[in-house]
Amino acid sequence: MKFFLDSANLEELKNALEWGIIDGVTTNPSLIAKEGVPVEDQIRRICDLIDGDVSVEVVSSLAGEMFEEGKQLARIHPNIVVKVPMIAEGIKAVSRLSKEGIRTNVTLCFSAAQALAAAKAGAYIVSPFIGRVDDLGWNGLDLIRDIGSIYSRYGFVTQILAASIRGPLHVVEAAKAGAHIATLPFKVIEQLFQHPLTERGLEQFLTDYNNAFEKIPVMRPLQLKRP
Ligand code: E4P
Repeated sequence: MKFFLDSANLEELKNALEWGIIDGVTTNPSLIAKEGVPVEDQIRRICDLIDGDVSVEVVSSLAGEMFEEGKQLARIHPNIVVKVPMIAEGIKAVSRLSKEGIRTNVTLCFSAAQALAAAKAGAYIVSPFIGRVDDLGWNGLDLIRDIGSIYSRYGFVTQILAASIRGPLHVVEAAKAGAHIATLPFKVIEQLFQHPLTERGLEQFLTDYNNAFEKIPVMRPLQLKRP
């Protein structure tokens, strides 16, 4: 399973890259707007930091305009994946962009029917928003499972990206459901590492170690003399 960072913030990206587990980045117009920098500049900076897929969303809403905007975005860097909203005009744009060899990520996907249309149009990635589905009182993970079973039944190669992830349980369940990618806010990546038993266990290990070496000073690592 690939991990993408769901952010357009450069500091978050630099910090996340230090963990060595990030394969790409997803942005959306809201995340770009938060940074207050023109989209092209911000995307260039992101692509300078990471060698992996970087999803950037079009902001037009007619197929022809989305197509032109998508081509422009794709020219910024070879790693750009053009994000297109899952609307009727978006599907037209995805079909055209796919035929031009431009990789697309169909975003704002909330149903298996939409995901099927995205795959038929040649999308490289489809992004079901599991957190927002859960917010409605439905089950976002069922959506991932349904898309996965339809895609494997018909051999679609469109990758399923679990988006709108709210916590580690979403990540684990999306992995069990077969999502190829999970895009994670920085905070959720930090949460992946945390477990109270790890913290308690480590505290005990270090306490035992320090107590032992306080009693036997010669064994303290700092006091060892090299020949
Ligand atoms: C990713 O591509 C989406 O833009 C993102 O995961 C949306 O998440 P949200 O529902 O937390 O805004």
